[in-house]
Amino acid sequence: METKILSTSEYDIALAGKILSDGGLVAFPTETVYGLGADALNEEAVKNIYLAKGRPSDNPLIVHIAEKEDIFPLVKEITPKAQALIDKFFPAPLTIILPKSSKIGNTVSGGLDTVAIRMPQNKTARALIKAAGTPIAAPSANTSGLPSPTKAKHVIDDMSGKIDAIINGEDCEFGVESTVITLATETPTILRPGAITKEMLEAVIGKVEVAAAVLNGMKKDEVAASPGMKYKHYAPKARVMLVNASKEIYESFVNSKKDAFALCFEDDNITIPKITFGKENDDISQAKELFDALRQLDKMGAEKVYARIPHKDGVGMAVYNRLIRAAAFCIIDLEKPFTIGLTGQTGAGKGYVGKYLKELGFNILDTDLYARKVTEKNSPYLSILADNFGKDIIENGILNRQLLADRAFADKESTELLNSIMHPAIIELCKKDAEFPSVLDAPLLFECKGNEQCCKTIAVIAPEETRRKRIMERDGITAKQAEARMNAQKSEAFYKANSDFTVINDGRDIKTQINRILEEIL
Ligand code: TXA
Ligand code: MG
Repeated sequence: METKILSTSEYDIALAGKILSDGGLVAFPTETVYGLGADALNEEAVKNIYLAKGRPSDNPLIVHIAEKEDIFPLVKEITPKAQALIDKFFPAPLTIILPKSSKIGNTVSGGLDTVAIRMPQNKTARALIKAAGTPIAAPSANTSGLPSPTKAKHVIDDMSGKIDAIINGEDCEFGVESTVITLATETPTILRPGAITKEMLEAVIGKVEVAAAVLNGMKKDEVAASPGMKYKHYAPKARVMLVNASKEIYESFVNSKKDAFALCFEDDNITIPKITFGKENDDISQAKELFDALRQLDKMGAEKVYARIPHKDGVGMAVYNRLIRAAAFCIIDLEKPFTIGLTGQTGAGKGYVGKYLKELGFNILDTDLYARKVTEKNSPYLSILADNFGKDIIENGILNRQLLADRAFADKESTELLNSIMHPAIIELCKKDAEFPSVLDAPLLFECKGNEQCCKTIAVIAPEETRRKRIMERDGITAKQAEARMNAQKSEAFYKANSDFTVINDGRDIKTQINRILEEIL
């Protein structure tokens, strides 16, 4: 199919309107992103939208209208809250979901009994809908899964040869898709954040909720309030990771990376290849540039991208929502130095799990080894120990371990004092060596508060019988001695209650369990 490239002249808009009313597909600019339009009341035409985009058929489309009163035939009724939003905002980057009328076919609404309606602000868009003389169903004019188009050239890249015409208009003013709010639930709920913010909506209709999936993604078996939530979105070919860190820490982290790109703010000092998306404290500029930036990364052949995290307030919520999906929810939290905290009962198989994580490329920080480093010759921590347990525990820069043990384990208070020195010191040393992705391997993870420095924690547990056998074999001790060691440990319930994930070593395959956990963490 040859795709006509049209201008925004009156003549061309009339022509595009005719293509639409004849059942064709036309891409056009709006103030949010470019839309791919078809006559919303023509089921055959609407089906072609799904084909051109490669869009799953259960993901409904937004119906665009030219005037406020055009909404009446399309919905069952206008509730007072809907009327208030229409009066205050339309035309706007805002989409309202209401129960649909019988005029709306099943293809447009993806089989749902509601319909999404929007009256765009953009002049060309409004003129086009008028010229077509019918409501226009229009999703974003990108190939399904790719970043939405904010420039005519993005649409030309994605849709040439697949649709009848593209209106070659201006760059989009906002750059992220409209706010989608459903009024078909008891409390109005934002299903997709956009330029009309929660605060702006609440000022008009009172309490508004934000669907949990907007910021956190969907749980495994959750049913999507908006089908769009469950699909992969806005994703460039590159693997994008969000980096939660201050400007300075982000800069030094990213500048040390090889073969990677930075997706950063304009004023960041970056020495590796970079693409920027707006200014640090200016969410409007970030929204406007984000999708173009994602597309540029692909053009440059980026494979690995470290992105700065935007704040989540106001329009920032929309930017964060799009970016976190582009990153498939992968956040590197540099405010937390360890990706995973690994712990477990003695004999449960923590060592085996650690080995497997190492094979997978994790950087393992074993606290047992670091405990030795804290007390090795000339360690700066020795003088702290000496200040607390007596100068004579150090001779020629070497720690007299027996003497320290005698004093530290003499009573509970002294033991606690030793722990309060050793635990933070061990974590401090591990932190220095931690390279993403890292595992803090610590038998006393929770007791030494190491878990507070980890993105997620995994505890390995196993039935008593299995552990007893293992400890006896591993350490060559009797059942009674093994029992004593096990009794000194925290219970299975403790590990279950404190960790994010548990690996159960009772014959079930451990690697499968780990792989499943990693899928969720990364
Ligand atoms: O800014 C925009 O809204 C752009 C421009 C072209 O107007 N359009 C757009 O459409 O972003 P689209 O199809 O890419 O996104 C529509 C979103 C999807 O996530 C879809 O699942 C949701 O709205 N949606 C549509 N109808 C719905 C309904 N009845 N119930 C729940 N979600 C709905
Ligand atoms: Mg879209």
